[in-house]
Amino acid sequence: MKPYRFLLSALLLLSSLANAQSKLIAFTPGTIWPDNNGLHINAHGGGMLYKNGTYYWFGEHKIAGDAGNRAMVGVHCYSSKDLYNWKDEGIALAVSPDSTNDIAKGCILERPKVIYNPKTKKYVMWFHLELRGQGYKAARAGVATADKVSGPYTFIKSYRPNAGFMPLYPEGTPDNEKVNCTHPTNESEGFFCRDLPGGQMARDMNVFVDDDGKAYHIFSAEENYTLDIAELNDNYTGHTGKFARVYAGHQTEAPAIFKHKGIYYMIGSGTTGWAPNPARWFTAKSIYGPWTYHGNPCIGKGSEITFGGQSTYVLPVTGKKDAFIFMADKWTPKDAIDGRYLWLPVTFKGDDIEISWMDKWDLSVFKK
Ligand code: GAL
Repeated sequence: MKPYRFLLSALLLLSSLANAQSKLIAFTPGTIWPDNNGLHINAHGGGMLYKNGTYYWFGEHKIAGDAGNRAMVGVHCYSSKDLYNWKDEGIALAVSPDSTNDIAKGCILERPKVIYNPKTKKYVMWFHLELRGQGYKAARAGVATADKVSGPYTFIKSYRPNAGFMPLYPEGTPDNEKVNCTHPTNESEGFFCRDLPGGQMARDMNVFVDDDGKAYHIFSAEENYTLDIAELNDNYTGHTGKFARVYAGHQTEAPAIFKHKGIYYMIGSGTTGWAPNPARWFTAKSIYGPWTYHGNPCIGKGSEITFGGQSTYVLPVTGKKDAFIFMADKWTPKDAIDGRYLWLPVTFKGDDIEISWMDKWDLSVFKK
């Protein structure tokens, strides 16, 4: 063998060995998480979609330096079959170079979530949008669709949901506990009534598809005082006007909903920007409530600050029983691209949940 050929084969062998070694077999929350190119995954405030044996992770693409929360690139997509090893699928939704576009480069585009609509065969992405140069004033929901899961997604519209609609209430709610816009009784209701004609503010958010195929948009409204759980239309691209106000006046952000044994669960956070605070969890028998507040699901050291993270999604693990992963972001405002991901298993104690810190874990913690 010619010497250079030998060298080439040796190099190839070494690189395939390196690749084999780099295959991940566990989660190590809070550490650098390399994708198939060896780069730290760039999908913050993310969400998951499971489709045909593959998980897709969508999140905010952050850039190095002090751009902070401004969207300079768009929404990044990754795919995985095992949840440990992620392949870069590129930018699913790109920000626009046109400065007059709603999703102009430099806007704030946060917490993107994608759901699939079997009727229209479209992938539908919802996100929180703040117009360029206006800080957090716009508080809009944005929607984009695609024919292919990884995109490209086409931006459709951004707006404040449910203009002109009053909330739904669980049966039996006395009238004096319902918002009455002639006499709002507190700050939160005041914001609700102020925004009634133009639509409710929509900031931190998630989407959830129920067993019956109905989809819901959950978002922080009323200057972040209250969460709204709002029904989406059959195409998943707009709101129907049916919604409930949840934990009104208590400032919940970063909502993540899942369903287990017929009970709806929601985990969220308080509102301290990118600084971590205690998580909070809720349950309900109906999506529109009443929702019961249960305090902090995290236990042990660091639980009072969600182990340094903030919820973004709860993923049901396909093919495993009672298996849900709590996903959180450990934000790094000074260099947002360095933000870390904290994924931890949700433990059920009867119908109660707990989340404990683990330095390293894998899917074998779940039962079959
Ligand atoms: C957090 C929010 C994030 C992002 C951040 C910016 O409260 O959950 O999505 O908006 O504030 O400060």
